Amino acid sequence: MTFNFDTPPDRRGTDSQKWQKYAGRDILPMWVADMDFETAPAIVEAIQRRAAHGIFGYSRPVKSTVDAVLGALASRYRWQVDPSWLVWLPGLVCGLNVAIRAFTEPGDVVLSLSPIYPPFTIAPVGQGRVARNVPLALNTAAGRWEVDWSALEAAVTSRTKVLLLCHPHNPVARVWSREEIAWLANFCARHDLVLCSDEIHCDLLLEPGAVHEPVGVVAPGESARTATFMAPSKTFNVPGLGASFAIIPDAALRAKYVRATAGIVAEVNVFGYVACEAAYRDGEPWRMALVDYLRGNRDFLKDTISREIPGVKIEAPIEATYLAWLNVAALDLANPVKFFEAAGVGLSDGVPFCAAPGTHVRINFGCPRSTLAEALSRMSAAVGAR
Ligand SMILES: Cc1ncc(COP(=O)(O)O)c(C=O)c1O
Repeated sequence: MTFNFDTPPDRRGTDSQKWQKYAGRDILPMWVADMDFETAPAIVEAIQRRAAHGIFGYSRPVKSTVDAVLGALASRYRWQVDPSWLVWLPGLVCGLNVAIRAFTEPGDVVLSLSPIYPPFTIAPVGQGRVARNVPLALNTAAGRWEVDWSALEAAVTSRTKVLLLCHPHNPVARVWSREEIAWLANFCARHDLVLCSDEIHCDLLLEPGAVHEPVGVVAPGESARTATFMAPSKTFNVPGLGASFAIIPDAALRAKYVRATAGIVAEVNVFGYVACEAAYRDGEPWRMALVDYLRGNRDFLKDTISREIPGVKIEAPIEATYLAWLNVAALDLANPVKFFEAAGVGLSDGVPFCAAPGTHVRINFGCPRSTLAEALSRMSAAVGAR
């Protein structure tokens, strides 16, 4: 079966957060992590069938939904997950906030590796905890972002309680290796930290043959201190349906986590469960085609930037996701986002990701190639006309 990723859907005037931001202005939105693709036909059909039922009461996952999730974890990652380990969540950021409440006290320190997806720092700070970001190191010889192991060790204090890991990493698009994950699990064990691993981008690996190594598979011996977070939302472009889950093998850790959800975490809605089941059970052909398409977009982005947009640099390979972290420091702009908005392209500012002002922006290339080409041509013209 072939799928059409080339035709731009018209999302103007819809409920799309991504497109509403620039309503009435000729600015292509390339910011929030939401793709301009219709989701898999299998998901659309499953939702239509569920809608026809006409009753939308409070829901719980049925066995076939749980089986679809567990089946995907087993076949893709060789991870045998017991159904009791799953905690369903209406969103992954919500799940990270719950983890902070459950596993730390006010004043405790939460570590993450920066630059980093903003909720990793907003969640601890918003709840009276301390966010400590340890900068990743750009290894130019190896051509990749790496953990600065000695800086990470040096950052730990007696108040440090959690490491929030983004795996694969948003925004630098690193796919952490088995060795790196094993080391991080060992680091958490040595310092008695809970390892919370956000693996929302794990099904969007762009290198042929690349393998996602879940923390739960690499370090089963540390399962008493690990919580893994996954969702079909990024991969299948269904973030508006809000279905995510935590995998917490240890009963005591899970009980702590579930207690922290009480009264404040909403149910997953009926369509979220339906989409989740269809995604993991029937969505694989669509996902494979999507990853191929995104790989093409990634290569196009890389070539176009290096050929046509001097002063903008992709510092390391984009191994996963549909998000690229661009170094724009050489352009010497006070506000790169405003500059590119004036040129008709809406990017994410690097500052909330912990980048220094004026140095980085993030571009979302999860869109038809023609949209990406138009955005890059606008950026190139703006840079050329400076
Ligand atoms: C690493 C990461 N975690 C979580 C989310 C958002 O998850 P949700 O929309 O389920 O809160 C994103 C979205 O971009 C993300 O990149």
